[in-house]
Amino acid sequence: MRSFLLSGRRMGLNAAALCVCLVVLALAGAAFARTEGTPHDFRSPANGGKNEHFPNLARIAGSSPCKVCHVTFSAGGRNKYMWGDDYGWQPTKEITLPESVFCSGCHDGQIVTKTGADIIPDAAMMVKNHKHPMESVYPVGGKKGFRAGFREKSGRWVIPTKWNVALPLYAGEDDEEAPRITCLTCHNPHEFGKEGLFLRVPSKVELCASCHAP
Ligand code: HEC
Ligand code: HEC
Ligand code: HEC
Ligand code: HEC
Repeated sequence: MRSFLLSGRRMGLNAAALCVCLVVLALAGAAFARTEGTPHDFRSPANGGKNEHFPNLARIAGSSPCKVCHVTFSAGGRNKYMWGDDYGWQPTKEITLPESVFCSGCHDGQIVTKTGADIIPDAAMMVKNHKHPMESVYPVGGKKGFRAGFREKSGRWVIPTKWNVALPLYAGEDDEEAPRITCLTCHNPHEFGKEGLFLRVPSKVELCASCHAP
């Protein structure tokens, strides 16, 4: 399951691949250039960003607002993300899906790479203080207390919201596994959002009622 995380790192060492990626990132950037200026823009001020606290990430980012998280984008499935690195997090009992392992690598507070380490100083920013269950199976078929999900044409299970934004659920490698919630269900790491929390919906208070029915 973790192989593609590592293959992303290997790709990073390949100069030819990196050239291709930067072109691809530039193209993708036209549609997705939303991390700029957010706390997920790891470029230094000299390179157009605002990151003054995480020098190692700034070094990795260089002039790209995307490179710290993505090496490239390729075809299909999860490999399309091509994560930039795995940031030193090992899956635990509660956190096993690649999507949440990826976030946890930084949000455990220690951002460790081969070239150095950065620390997120505010303990409130660390996942261990984040109380919601992380990878619970979501009762997509409906269950008392929960709203039903539906399956998109792509095969992905999602939960509709009143904002016309669907909250995506994630299964393991095997598509027949039960769909679960992860960081990416509630958060979109590209869009800082109205409340500055990278949430998929504009209100953290009303987010809960998208899944929890009265
Ligand atoms: C903090 C990490 C982070 C940064 C920085 C980042 N991304 Fe992403 N990106 C992600 C994650 C996580 C996903 C998977 C999102 C999902 O499944 O909803 C993703 C997915 C994508 C996808 C696939 C989207 C899809 O729905 O198929 C594209 C394209 C993309 N990112 C482009 C970019 C571009 C362009 C930049 C720079 C402007 C960028 N990203 C910066 C974390 C990041
Ligand atoms: C490469 C490291 C890295 C990765 C990967 C990453 N983040 Fe972050 N994230 C950061 C840093 C650094 C900050 C800014 C922290 C600060 O300024 O103290 C941040 C900020 C945030 C914030 C905003 C908090 C606030 O109050 O400003 C949220 C929410 C967040 N990240 C969620 C996520 C999620 C969800 C993922 C996975 C999809 C993710 N991050 C992946 C490093 C990362
Ligand atoms: C069920 C939805 C949900 C899931 C799942 C979730 N988050 Fe959050 N997250 C939120 C909400 C809502 C907030 C705002 C909390 C507040 O301000 O009271 C938040 C806040 C944050 C913050 C800002 C600091 C803080 O703790 O308030 C970070 C960083 C963050 N989440 C990262 C993550 C990561 C990493 C994961 C996965 C390991 C994750 N979140 C999973 C809903 C979620
Ligand atoms: C994407 C759907 C989703 C969202 C959004 C969501 N939850 Fe949940 N919540 C779940 C699931 C799934 C469980 C686990 C149910 C289980 O395992 O029985 C859960 C469990 C809980 C629990 C029980 C915790 C425990 O340890 O048993 C509480 C409390 C809770 N959620 C509160 C919230 C609050 C508050 C919000 C808004 C900030 C929120 N939830 C947003 C899906 C969601």
